[in-house]
Amino acid sequence: MNFPHYPVMSKEVLEIFQGSAKKLFVDCTVGAGGHSYHILGAFAGARVIAIDQDEESIALARENLKAFGRRVRFHLGSFSDLFENFDCRKLAVSGILVDPGISTVQLKKSQRGFSHSLDGPLDMRKDRHGSLTAAEVLNTFPEKKLADIFSRYGEFAAAGRLAKKIIEKRLFAPLQSTVQLRLLVEEITRWRPRPGLVHPAAKVFQALRIFINHELEGIEAWLEKIPANLRAGGRVVFITYHSLEDRLVKRGFQRLQRAQQVQLLRPFPGFPGREELLQNLASRSAKLRALEVA
Ligand SMILES: C[S@@+](CC[C@H](N)C(=O)[O-])C[C@H]1O[C@@H](n2cnc3c(N)ncnc32)[C@H](O)[C@@H]1O
Repeated sequence: MNFPHYPVMSKEVLEIFQGSAKKLFVDCTVGAGGHSYHILGAFAGARVIAIDQDEESIALARENLKAFGRRVRFHLGSFSDLFENFDCRKLAVSGILVDPGISTVQLKKSQRGFSHSLDGPLDMRKDRHGSLTAAEVLNTFPEKKLADIFSRYGEFAAAGRLAKKIIEKRLFAPLQSTVQLRLLVEEITRWRPRPGLVHPAAKVFQALRIFINHELEGIEAWLEKIPANLRAGGRVVFITYHSLEDRLVKRGFQRLQRAQQVQLLRPFPGFPGREELLQNLASRSAKLRALEVA
């Protein structure tokens, strides 16, 4: 099977789930189905509830996992509603995986608007029924609010200047494409590409994506619900891709540990090894944290 998205640290995920006595897993962010594929292949008789908020991801995962037939059940929605939609305690779920952000498949589809290196509409919604697109944000939000988004969710140093530039530009015509936004970022940062330097638009696109998809909202509240919703011995693996998200997960896990509701399975986060980085450089920002319910 040729997966269009490389599942990050899948060996480590399997090692963590290995000890699980019962074998129902929840893949909260199934994407192209890579992690689920490995889980279903590694554990005979295991079943997976596969969730994603993006219809296209669910359709792709359905195709990639069809060999496993009824061992996979698909659910379109946000994992933040997992415990409201599924009684994980009653179902004896033994492992939950969260691998959020976006997949390579979503990134490479220019019409989704996630990539600053492809020309496409300023969309960036994972849930296409979601209300706000990036274009709506950029063309209607006040300068101060735009600056706040770039700074808070992208830690973008020139946030104020970019917001000002956007306001000037949109006076004459609304911003419509990812390339227009990238060029504005290049202009205000006086960008000159050099080997090893990450394009400054990456931070701006990240900021907009996080804001539009409410990526950081509800993570803390969701983590708090784990002890009440998983049986003792149930395990949770959370992979993060940027420091804002990782900080929330790290602190949430520590709070649960201090309350003696969980045990951390790793005192420090896991990172992709050298071999994985050689195959998938995009995984370089990933951190893996794991816990077990006490
Ligand atoms: C990094 S990819 C996951 C890749 C997957 N593990 C694989 O092996 O193919 C992230 C996926 O999570 C989905 N996603 C992000 N946030 C989500 C949320 N709150 N609820 C459900 N799905 C989410 C995205 O739509 C995307 O398909």
